[in-house]
Amino acid sequence: MERVEGKVAFITGGASGIGFGMAQAFGEAGMKLVIADVNAERRETAVGALSESGFACHGVDLDVRSATSWKAAADDAEARFGAVDILCNNAGVGQGRRTDGTRLLLEATDEELFRLVFDINVAGAFLGVRTMVPRIVARGAAGHIVNTGSMAGLIAPPGLATYSASKYAVTALSESLRAELAARNIGVSLLCPGGVQSSLDTTSAERRNEQLGSGFDREAGFLSNRPINPEMMEPVSVGRRVLRAIRDNDFYIFSHPEYAGLIEERYAAIRRDIGSSAQDGYVDPDWLLAASRNPAYSEDDRSAATAGLR
Ligand SMILES: NC(=O)c1ccc[n+]([C@@H]2O[C@H](COP(=O)([O-])OP(=O)(O)OC[C@H]3O[C@@H](n4cnc5c(N)ncnc54)[C@H](O)[C@@H]3O)[C@@H](O)[C@H]2O)c1
Repeated sequence: MERVEGKVAFITGGASGIGFGMAQAFGEAGMKLVIADVNAERRETAVGALSESGFACHGVDLDVRSATSWKAAADDAEARFGAVDILCNNAGVGQGRRTDGTRLLLEATDEELFRLVFDINVAGAFLGVRTMVPRIVARGAAGHIVNTGSMAGLIAPPGLATYSASKYAVTALSESLRAELAARNIGVSLLCPGGVQSSLDTTSAERRNEQLGSGFDREAGFLSNRPINPEMMEPVSVGRRVLRAIRDNDFYIFSHPEYAGLIEERYAAIRRDIGSSAQDGYVDPDWLLAASRNPAYSEDDRSAATAGLR
């Protein structure tokens, strides 16, 4: 989508951190901003700040976990600015950390916490696609979807299994979606940031307290009020990179190239362990291999993507 001026961007989790950084960058480019966030106070503050900067901006109430909430938020946004052109599925939560400095191991992770992380990070993005893609298609012009994954959606360090698993899911749904939507002139990008200044620890604790009860946090000993780390990347820089990716229809958006070596390490480990067939002489049939291929991985993915869907 080369020309973005006047386009309507719907940003989930837009009241804080990376989502707010995207809003700033999109506003600078003349886009209309819909700030969709579950926290009313933060949402109003963000809308106030963006409006003061002279950007066209509207706040909508949204809990990404709920299909009903998605419909109401989409209707609200359309009533204010007309059809949405760009969807940023950005709202997310972390899995939390121990106050004593030890990592939250998978075996010690509460079942409800595991489900909450997937509900927001994965089902939230899925419901965004379900709600907005038919609306974007219906209005008949080019569109774009940006899903906020993470470096933790490409590498899974110990002590981060729940969060990483949810972000791997975001990677997978973005990669499939890219091929599914190519023929309909809707670009899909996957944002994979490393460390960015944000309030993720605090807002994740808010979600845990609200959904699981504040007693849960105390029992688990979660660190819930870590201040924003000023050493990390500024969110508006990430936002400007996302803007460039929308204009160029980039697939993966990397703001932190220093992670390339870690991704290569993972790929090398997979390559190393791919050995011979478990059954002597057996290979899967061509049709199964063809169906397993994602044409979006190839350089020239557009016509290939259409072919892959037939
Ligand atoms: N900050 C980082 O270092 C980093 C790195 C990689 C990926 N990410 C991802 O970036 C995204 C944005 O996080 P951030 O770091 O900017 O954090 P943040 O806490 O500053 O912003 C997250 C926003 O999402 C909102 N939110 C949470 N649950 C919601 C829900 N159910 N419905 C609607 N809104 C909800 C919060 O109210 C908050 O305003 C997340 O998906 C996160 O996993 C962050």
